[in-house]
Amino acid sequence: MNQFPKIYVAGHRGMVGSAIVRHLVAEGHPQDRIIGRTHAELDLTNQAAVRDFFEVERPDQVYLAAAKVGGIHANNTYPADFILDNLFIEANIIDAAFRVGVKKLLFLGSSCIYPKLAPQPMREDALLTGILEATNEPYAIAKIAGIKLCESYNRQYGEDHGIDYRSVMPTNLYGPGDNYHPENSHVIPALIRRFHEAKETNAPEVVIWGSGTPMREFLYVNDMAAASVHVMNLNQATYQRHTQPMLSHINVGFGSDVTIKELAVLVGQTVGYTGNISFDPTKPDGTQKKLMDSSRLKSLGWLPQVNLEAGLKLAYADFLNNSQLRN
Ligand SMILES: NC(=O)c1ccc[n+]([C@@H]2O[C@H](COP(=O)([O-])OP(=O)(O)OC[C@H]3O[C@@H](n4cnc5c(N)ncnc54)[C@H](OP(=O)(O)O)[C@@H]3O)[C@@H](O)[C@H]2O)c1
Repeated sequence: MNQFPKIYVAGHRGMVGSAIVRHLVAEGHPQDRIIGRTHAELDLTNQAAVRDFFEVERPDQVYLAAAKVGGIHANNTYPADFILDNLFIEANIIDAAFRVGVKKLLFLGSSCIYPKLAPQPMREDALLTGILEATNEPYAIAKIAGIKLCESYNRQYGEDHGIDYRSVMPTNLYGPGDNYHPENSHVIPALIRRFHEAKETNAPEVVIWGSGTPMREFLYVNDMAAASVHVMNLNQATYQRHTQPMLSHINVGFGSDVTIKELAVLVGQTVGYTGNISFDPTKPDGTQKKLMDSSRLKSLGWLPQVNLEAGLKLAYADFLNNSQLRN
């Protein structure tokens, strides 16, 4: 038997999946013991194809980092696709993994699983205590179902089959492999692109939507990958001591937040933009504060390594390196 487990990273070309692959390789895991399939090679919503894939490949571990993801506009326009594709992806992978005897699986969810008015910072036990944000409710319901699939398989089959399926809930992520699309990107890649273009065109001012006062938390994607591998590799007794069978997910955040204004100033400095930054308070702000409580993960021995200033420098370098691909 090979000393290294065979690891399947679902979504290995996505921002998080590719960071997990890089992290595993950097830690000495041989590349040929990591497998992935592109969307074109394997449609994860196709149950028969997913079962065939697992039957042939029989991995030892699975990182479930594939998902249909998108911004508010996409979530609002295609709610049926967001709930159905994600339910299919999770159910197909988790069940196919179980059928071929995969013992360890890590499911990646999202902070949108928490109620819109959850107390801040949001703890794991805020799950299912209130109504969700309406715009991405179908997506969030699918992510909650993913957590509950893992827990239910553990509860029904854990002892007899020795399976141990876990879940992590990341805060907002950024870094290499991010989506810089002008209309459909998250706040950090959107700001990087806008400040970069303003610098290139010598624009005297960049106007940011909203008041700039809402607070947000951001984690560099390599830290997310490191946290994922850390949680996957925790021994079972330790994991079980810090979780409950029906409250088993683990938040992964940076631990502190910044205002959108502070973020904008930092991105402007990182990019080298010297013009004026202003805010348009007539535009919507969204929730005032959204911060994860990551003390569960901290007590499990993991802390982030890359602060926002350093992470933004790395993200901007990646943006510059890959800008030809995007234009
Ligand atoms: N990015 C964030 O800020 C953030 C924050 C919290 C949680 N997360 C979670 O982290 C996970 C990964 O997110 P990400 O940012 O890495 O997203 P991403 O860059 O869009 O990667 C997702 C990957 O899944 C693949 N995929 C989607 N549908 C598929 C299908 N039907 N069959 C096969 N492959 C499929 C995509 O391939 P194609 O592009 O070819 O379809 C893509 O490679 C998601 O579960 C997400 O909810 C992300």
